[in-house]
Amino acid sequence: MSQTTFTPRVFSGIQPSGGLTLGNYLGAIKRFVSMQEEDFETIYCMVDLHAITAKLIDPSELRHNTRELAAGFIASGISPDKSILINQSQVPEHAQLAWIFNCIARMGWMGRMTQWKDKAGKNAEAASLGLFAYPALMAADILIYHATHVPVGEDQKQHLELTRDIAAKFNHDYGEEFFPITEPVIEGAATRVMSLRDGSKKMSKSDPSDASRINMTDDADTISRKIRKAKTDPDALPSALEGLDHRPEARNLVSIYAALNDQSLEEVLRDVGGQQFGTFKPALAELAVEKLAPISSEMARLMADTDEIDRILAKGAAQAREITAPILKRTYDLIGMVS
Ligand code: TYM
Repeated sequence: MSQTTFTPRVFSGIQPSGGLTLGNYLGAIKRFVSMQEEDFETIYCMVDLHAITAKLIDPSELRHNTRELAAGFIASGISPDKSILINQSQVPEHAQLAWIFNCIARMGWMGRMTQWKDKAGKNAEAASLGLFAYPALMAADILIYHATHVPVGEDQKQHLELTRDIAAKFNHDYGEEFFPITEPVIEGAATRVMSLRDGSKKMSKSDPSDASRINMTDDADTISRKIRKAKTDPDALPSALEGLDHRPEARNLVSIYAALNDQSLEEVLRDVGGQQFGTFKPALAELAVEKLAPISSEMARLMADTDEIDRILAKGAAQAREITAPILKRTYDLIGMVS
């Protein structure tokens, strides 16, 4: 096979299926911002086509969520001058490549995806075809840019392995190293932020309990109240990592503290070991408010002018298509489509 060198390029996406959570921020967005400052081209995406796979979203809510997510990206430090910021449906090559990947991926591969099994639940017959094909569209999101690195939280690991399998099968089938074998970037103290009400469940925008998560739009009082009420155990905090074994709620709060403060878990435990939650929770609440309140107020300011957000997304789509159109064209040529 011919060797291809790929431009170091980052792609990642977030679904506008609800508001942004602290899990999205710590697990993904913080890394999006730092990679923008490294030696990469960076492309960040609101994946609105993914957001309609699980259930019907009211159209005005989807529009609102998409713009609010763009505001969240920008307020967190993603600069439209340094990164390409796009809404997935405005760059049609994502969906066009996804169709090709629907024909590359095997039913067996897709059926093994744990998120498919979790989301479809017992009634898979009633799930949408889009939900089943979701990871092939995700692979297309990444590979339509020939992206080499994808920063995500831990829950996306299996989808990224599938992306590598799809790229490898395409390259093998068509005899050219055309798509890169993308590297997942799963790093930081909080790659899996858990629910504040149940340390065995992931913090999620779709959890029916609002108290289970911190939303990036929560005000200072709400953030403090949710942290004060977070589930914990009665013991004091340990001074070393092993002391967090079998204490999922304690581990979660310490991980959140570490990620917000750009520290490792060990460093935090060195400082807070021996403290009761009655002391630690107010310190965590104060830190969370200090870090998150400026983001939520900037989001609110940006949402007061959605025309500006729409302009940023239109510009991003035009920049993106300069990359995606030639890659789709070469994909079609390799497959044998007449153009
Ligand atoms: P989504 O919208 O569920 O989540 C967006 C990002 O946030 C991370 N994340 C978390 N990280 C730590 N703790 C949590 N509790 C938590 N909850 C969410 C996710 O891992 C993710 O990085 N399939 C993707 C969206 C997508 C995508 C892509 C991602 C579509 N195409 C291409 C990367 C590349 C998803 O549903 O993410």
